[in-house]
Amino acid sequence: MDYKDYIAEIQDFPIDGVLFRDITPIMQNGKAFRAACNEMVEFAKKVNADVIVGPESRGFIFGCPVAYELEIGFVPIRKPGKLPRATESIEYDLEYGTNELHIHADAIKKGQRVLIIDDLLATGGTVKGTIDLVEKLGGEVVGCNFLIELADLKGRDLLDNYEVNSLIIYQ
Ligand code: PRP
Ligand code: ADE
Repeated sequence: MDYKDYIAEIQDFPIDGVLFRDITPIMQNGKAFRAACNEMVEFAKKVNADVIVGPESRGFIFGCPVAYELEIGFVPIRKPGKLPRATESIEYDLEYGTNELHIHADAIKKGQRVLIIDDLLATGGTVKGTIDLVEKLGGEVVGCNFLIELADLKGRDLLDNYEVNSLIIYQ
């Protein structure tokens, strides 16, 4: 399946100079969405993940179906003011702006094998922040899985020590 057929491109969104890759067409196509999730399930099996961690909000879209299929847990990474109990947090840079990520402090058990799933790897700020949070809690990051990788933004350079799987790579 050529997933690129189901990604829309919008120039200058949300700010001038950004070419936004819109995943909503793949979500609207049941077969394409399921095929992409199934590939992520296979990767999760390969790295023997026992929990999925996904950053708000598009990480939830792909992370939850994978966790459901494997009958393992899903842990949300959220923006400030959303998680109701004690959290660990970290600040990070985005392609367009900065943000802060939070995780519930008791969400990961020491030694758990964590697969991080998100829709898109750009500068890598989000995934690096997520890795730092998981490791702070004692989890072992066994892989990072993306639907889309924007190679020119070099996010992968931050992931040298991790197994990375991207279903679509834009050069
Ligand atoms: C987008 C995307 C990734 C992140 C990638 O999320 O879903 O999580 O940016 O960029 P990076 O590699 O430069 O960190 P965004 O923060 O826009 O939030 P959203 O999913 O709620 O739209
Ligand atoms: N998140 C960060 N950069 C993005 C882009 N170019 N398109 C869609 N989502 C993004």
